[in-house]
Amino acid sequence: MDQERFTELLNEDLSTEYQSIVQYNLHISTVTGPEFVSTIDELTKHLSQELNHARVLAAQISFLGGEPTTVVRDVPETTDSRGALEADLRLEQAQLERYRERFSQASDLGLADVGEALRPLLQQTQEHVQDLLTALGR
Ligand SMILES: [Fe+2]
Ligand SMILES: [Fe+2]
Repeated sequence: MDQERFTELLNEDLSTEYQSIVQYNLHISTVTGPEFVSTIDELTKHLSQELNHARVLAAQISFLGGEPTTVVRDVPETTDSRGALEADLRLEQAQLERYRERFSQASDLGLADVGEALRPLLQQTQEHVQDLLTALGR
């Protein structure tokens, strides 16, 4: 793992954050049902945090000499509210795994400042996973 590969991986992370923004914006307006009323408020909070995650990643990519991507990962099609929230959960769990890896890679590369910048993403993604597990009654 060198800094160039690390920067590529940050760009893939950024693509998944753009997916989060599009996906939450879609689900806020399409998830329905009395059991999900408070869930919509949670998703709305997630949405603004995802925008901030994208900003942090783009800034770190630039700092490392890379060009921040504009590629948005595909949003999966879902057929009902529960399926939409399951898709949100899978995305957050994948991002949590990604940020755990990125955090230790930053440390291995001697990029402690980049690791510190990523710490809020790791913490908030963990909270998002928990929020979705709660929304799905798990
Ligand atoms: Fe995020
Ligand atoms: Fe998130």
